[in-house]
Formats: sequence, structure tokens, C-alpha cells
Amino acid sequence: MEHTDLKTKIEEYCVYIENALEKCIPEQEALPPDVYEAMRYSLLAGGKRLRPMLVLAACEAMGGKREEALPFACAIEMIHTYSLIHDDLPAMDNDDYRRGRPTNHKVYGEAMAILAGDGLLHHAMETMAAACVKAPSAERAEAMRAIAHGAGIYGMLAGQAADVALEGKSLDVKTLDYIHLNKTAAMIRGALEAGALLGGAEAETVKGFGLAGQNIGLAFQIIDDILDVTSTTEELGKPVHSDEKNQKTTYVTLFGVEEARRIAGRLSMQAVNFWKGQGESCAFLLALTEYLTDRTY
Ligand code: IPE
Ligand code: IPE
Ligand code: MG
Ligand code: MG
Ligand code: MG
Repeated sequence: MEHTDLKTKIEEYCVYIENALEKCIPEQEALPPDVYEAMRYSLLAGGKRLRPMLVLAACEAMGGKREEALPFACAIEMIHTYSLIHDDLPAMDNDDYRRGRPTNHKVYGEAMAILAGDGLLHHAMETMAAACVKAPSAERAEAMRAIAHGAGIYGMLAGQAADVALEGKSLDVKTLDYIHLNKTAAMIRGALEAGALLGGAEAETVKGFGLAGQNIGLAFQIIDDILDVTSTTEELGKPVHSDEKNQKTTYVTLFGVEEARRIAGRLSMQAVNFWKGQGESCAFLLALTEYLTDRTY
């Protein structure tokens, strides 16, 4: 896929996703006030929209319609946004800037930021459950399960808990991989599994999509940690040197930037090879995987 075609397609997915997210959380004042506004503030602040894009693209690659996958795409972005709001709290990474604006707790206060995160998580579950009720199918229920699994106690939550608990300790690569596998890769895995399921893929193929997601996710976190030392706040829309501030072990602290980049490249290549094996239907997923490895934000 040509670079310009890839950019156009990413842009097209983003517009489609943004329009749908805009309708997810009501605008009117809630009681107590501010909580809807706080949810919308972080959800509609931009971001790469990677996880919902993967849900939609995987569904389409398997011959499904993108509308069918949309509630699940919105749900995973709501869960991801909740994880970012909580990740930035003083009790966690204590960061003041996210998606190009002050973090949620800086604007609405800590209590409201916690509730806005909780609200996004609950609403994500309700959104997926509603889609399952509207047109019940085992595939939809499985897709919801895959996303909840990636986010929950066997996924992102476990990774975030380990990440916070092990702050300030020097970790071996096995422990670090456990953190990455859970805090970041599990959600990306869940996105691709859910999309493949919604597109009607066979169990074997769903597994392959999941594994590709795992490799993409591991590479994604390594690159996030590289950018934390090599990029700028303007480019990332979030603070740089957050990991150093919080004394996190990363691939950069263990291996240095260059070697970390090579390891991310190898992980990404494993996913690329899987997409190649799938043929033309996965051309976008292949191009997106390569693009993510070279990303600068
Ligand atoms: C940031 O995720 C948190 C990590 C898992 C590294 P993204 O880099 O996808 O953040 P947004 O959605 O683009 O803001
Ligand atoms: C967080 O990893 C991953 C999440 C599940 C939110 P980081 O703490 O490195 O993410 P950023 O750099 O703040 O986006
Ligand atoms: Mg963190
Ligand atoms: Mg953080
Ligand atoms: Mg980071």
C-alpha cells in the first residue's frame, strides 16, 4: 500500500471514529455537574484512535461491515481513554498534559477525573452489551469478552498494577515483558480479536490476529518508551521524560535507544509476516503495522 493511500485511509477511519465518539456521551449537564463534560474532555481530545481503528479494520479484512463493529470500536476507545485519565493521576504517573491539553484531573480535579474514568469504563460495557442485545450472536458476545479480557484483570489492569507496584525497582526483561504484555499489548490484542470475530473469522484466524496484536502491542510500548526520551511534548501531546521522573525500567534503560528500536522492529516484523500470509485483505493492517513502528508521536 502506498504511503499516501495509507495516510488517506487512516484519516478516513479517524473521521468515522470521531463522529461516532462525539455521540457516545451526552452533552447536557449531569447531576453532579461536570462529569459528562469531564468524560467528553478527554474522549474528544484527539489521539491516534489506534485501537478502534484496529477493531474496524480487522472486521473489514474478514469481510464484515464496519457499522457492525462500530459500538465495539467506540467502547475500546472509551476504555483506553479511561486508562489514560487514571494513568495520569497523581497517585499513578502524575502527569499534567495529555493529548495536547492539561490532564483531566488538572481541569476537573482528582475526584471528578476518577469518576470520569469510571464513567467511560461503565459506558463502554453498556455500549457493547446494547449491541449484543440489539442483534444477539455468539460472535458479538465473544468480541465483548475479548475486549473486556484485554482491559481487565488478565490484561491492562494487571499490567498497570505491576507497573505502579514495581516503580523505582530495577526489573529484568522477563518482568518488564509481563508489564508490557498486560498494560499495553492485551488491549491491542483484544481489538484485533474482537474485529476478526465481528467479521466472521474462523477460530484459528482469530487466534492469529490476537498474536499479531500482541506483537504490535509489545512493539508499541517499546516505541512509546523510546519517544519518552527522544521526542518533545509538542510532538507527543504529553510530557516527555515521564518514565525517568517515575523511575521506570524500560527497554531504553535496559538496552539503550538503538537496541530497543531493533527489538521493536523485530516484534513488528512478526506481525507483518502474519499479515502477509493473510493476503490482500490484510494490506491495510500490514501497512499500519509498519507505519506504527516508524511513528514519531
Ligand atoms: C498511550 O496510548 C498509552 C500506551 C499504551 C503507550 P496511545 O499512544 O495510543 O495514546 P493516544 O490514544 O494516541 O492518545
Ligand atoms: C500506560 O503506559 C499504558 C496504559 C495502560 C495507560 P505509559 O504510562 O507509558 O503511557 P503514557 O506514556 O503515559 O501514555
Ligand atoms: Mg503509566
Ligand atoms: Mg503514563
Ligand atoms: Mg509512556
